[in-house]
Amino acid sequence: MKLHMMKFTALLSGVLGVSSLCAAPVQAQSATPAPDNGTFDVEQLFAGTCGFCHSDGGRTAGKGPQLMNSPRDDDFLHNRIKNGKSGAMPAFGGAFTDAQIDQIIKYIRALKPREG
Ligand code: HEC
Repeated sequence: MKLHMMKFTALLSGVLGVSSLCAAPVQAQSATPAPDNGTFDVEQLFAGTCGFCHSDGGRTAGKGPQLMNSPRDDDFLHNRIKNGKSGAMPAFGGAFTDAQIDQIIKYIRALKPREG
């Protein structure tokens, strides 16, 4: 009888374990992405992800145009980063949230020529 109870408890906790696993993704989906978690380092991200085409952190032209002192407005930059341009630039809308794209634009607007 005692053994039987232990089996039952094990079974029950097994079931509970499974059901809480199932609940986790639902929770993750309804959570809104944090707009500024401290781990989103734009400068590093830019160098790694964009620097291949936008040279020197966006300061000079490469395969893509120079971004520093861009005459384009924020909406244009946002749209270009989010949707890319066919045959020219990949779309990053799947990689970054709108808030993160806005942070990238802030980074672009703050670009200055390197000293020295
Ligand atoms: C494979 C090369 C490539 C990569 C990688 C790339 N870009 Fe571009 N980007 C381009 C090209 C080419 C254009 C010009 C598109 C056009 O003809 O309008 C461009 C245009 C832009 C523009 C608009 C500038 C303007 O004045 O038209 C922005 C902003 C931009 N890129 C940001 C980024 C950011 C941010 C990243 C990284 C997350 C990135 N790009 C990654 C090639 C690239």
